[in-house]
Amino acid sequence: MPVQYDDVVAWVKAFASAIEENKAYLTQLDSAIGDADHGTNMQRGFQAAVQKLEESPGDDIGAALKGVGMTLVSKIGGAGGPLYGTFFMQMGTALAGKSELEADDWATALEAGVEGVQTRGKAELEEATMLDALLPAVQALKESVGAGSSLEAALVKATEAAQGGMKATIPLIARKGRASYLGERSVGHQDPGATSSYLLMKAASDVLATKKAS
Ligand SMILES: Nc1ncnc2c1ncn2[C@@H]1O[C@H](COP(=O)(O)OP(=O)(O)OP(=O)(O)O)[C@@H](O)[C@H]1O
Ligand SMILES: [Mg+2]
Repeated sequence: MPVQYDDVVAWVKAFASAIEENKAYLTQLDSAIGDADHGTNMQRGFQAAVQKLEESPGDDIGAALKGVGMTLVSKIGGAGGPLYGTFFMQMGTALAGKSELEADDWATALEAGVEGVQTRGKAELEEATMLDALLPAVQALKESVGAGSSLEAALVKATEAAQGGMKATIPLIARKGRASYLGERSVGHQDPGATSSYLLMKAASDVLATKKAS
């Protein structure tokens, strides 16, 4: 069954709730290697994004995701806001005018979002950033969808890959953002952005699993 506008809104809302639940944890991760604001930044941005979605209902998934991205850029300072903002704006551009998504639309849009993060932040894999969760997730999603899996099954694989990538940031030296100022002292800490990006994938997988069950 294709993904509808309401499912995409449910995804953003599920992520906003996950951020709310994990706000202290994300901030704790950021306090070890950054400036202890990732949880609060994300919570502020996504609360505003959900409000914007509720104020302007419609059926254009691309426009809705672009609106989310623009809200994030305007509400969150620092690195995380513009990077998540770019992610949603690029996803939205890839899905302009669509009111239903098939698995390959989702894979194309996720890839566009992640490419946007990469272009904006100039980070590579294994530099201990959100890309360490997002790049493996895109790869897994594309492979599963290419092999004919359902979107639900492909998102489970993508979430597992994101979780693996998140955990793999622990032994890495951070090369981007404030954490990079610590050099080797950043080793042994899980990256906050990779952690929130794993939660983003998990929210998508959870929402679509619920849809299938209902
Ligand atoms: N150039 C980059 N490319 C991709 N992700 C990045 C980059 N710089 C930082 N990040 C991600 O942003 C997260 C920090 O987000 P946060 O909301 O705390 O913003 P911030 O405090 O302004 O960031 P920072 O302290 O890293 O400059 C990091 O954990 C990392 O995953
Ligand atoms: Mg921070």
